[in-house]
Amino acid sequence: MPSAAATAIIADLDRLAGELVAELATLVTEQEIRAAQARYLGKKGRLADPMKALGRLPAEDRPAVGEAANRAKGTIETAVAARLRGLEEAAMGADLARVLDVTLPARGARLGTLHPLTLVRREIEEIFLGLGFEVRTGPWIETEWNNFDALNTPADHPARDMQDTFFVEGGRILRSHTSPVQIRTMLAGPPPVRIIAPGNVFRRDDDATHTPMFPQMEGLLVDEGVSFADLKGTLLHFVQRFFGPKLGVRLRPSYFPFTEPSAEVDAACYLCDGSGLLAGKSCRLCKGGGWIEIGGSGMVHPNVFKAVGYDPKIVSGFAFGMGLSRMAMLKYGVDDLRAFYENDTRFLAQFR
Ligand code: PHE
Repeated sequence: MPSAAATAIIADLDRLAGELVAELATLVTEQEIRAAQARYLGKKGRLADPMKALGRLPAEDRPAVGEAANRAKGTIETAVAARLRGLEEAAMGADLARVLDVTLPARGARLGTLHPLTLVRREIEEIFLGLGFEVRTGPWIETEWNNFDALNTPADHPARDMQDTFFVEGGRILRSHTSPVQIRTMLAGPPPVRIIAPGNVFRRDDDATHTPMFPQMEGLLVDEGVSFADLKGTLLHFVQRFFGPKLGVRLRPSYFPFTEPSAEVDAACYLCDGSGLLAGKSCRLCKGGGWIEIGGSGMVHPNVFKAVGYDPKIVSGFAFGMGLSRMAMLKYGVDDLRAFYENDTRFLAQFR
């Protein structure tokens, strides 16, 4: 049995440890907690006296009191560590809550949008698919023969200058228009042919209204007895579906080596309804003319049929070509062509 003095010290130690644990519960900051710890366990702390008294006890009392002293220290250290860990976790939780509030509603997926040029291409495809045309594509890197010679444009033809393009190793070129898809399609099979061919083309141009690469849409219809009236009717249907139901089409005499006769295609301006006047002023889209140019067209030249092995005495056909970026500019009222190629999502997100 420990002596009365020893029992008193043991009781002291247990009481002091209990007091600190109770006090810890009222403390808020790390500094307060560490100060309290020092007040008990420090050199001149509240446990220092009982420890000194321990030294004066007879040997047989020391084990029991020593054990009580260790227990008191252990209780204090464990309680302090637990409080400090609690503070740390609370601080981390607060940090996390600041950046991640898991109770907020989800943000939802950010869906992209189709590029305006894609939208216009698909819309035009739909219109011609409805007329029984098929969509065909061809490679960007073409033979000179498909791009020029077979299209009645021999090497010394002045029309080659207008479509100067990029030459690739091996004598090939970046196609300057989608018209070589006419050649590829006719070489691939007999008439009748009814295709549209969207795709990128390349020219040696680079300014506010011309980019060195731009998308076109070709059209070709070949059969027996196809007339210029069929061309005009097809273009009229297209313009009325694409720009507006009552708008007219105008074909202006022009020249392309691979069509004869050839015509530039104008659509009546949808903004001023072809009048050229908008609120008493000159229409800003057609500049007062009442017409907007949308592409080139014509009846397939006999030499083109000869180049692909079709008999021009049996078949006839029409072809047309338009610039898809121009169609998108007209349709959406975009006045700078370059906006289509800058990939600024603030611009692109407006089209859907
Ligand atoms: N290929 C011509 C161009 O790019 C357009 C065109 C196509 C004209 C078909 C007539 C017939 O300028």
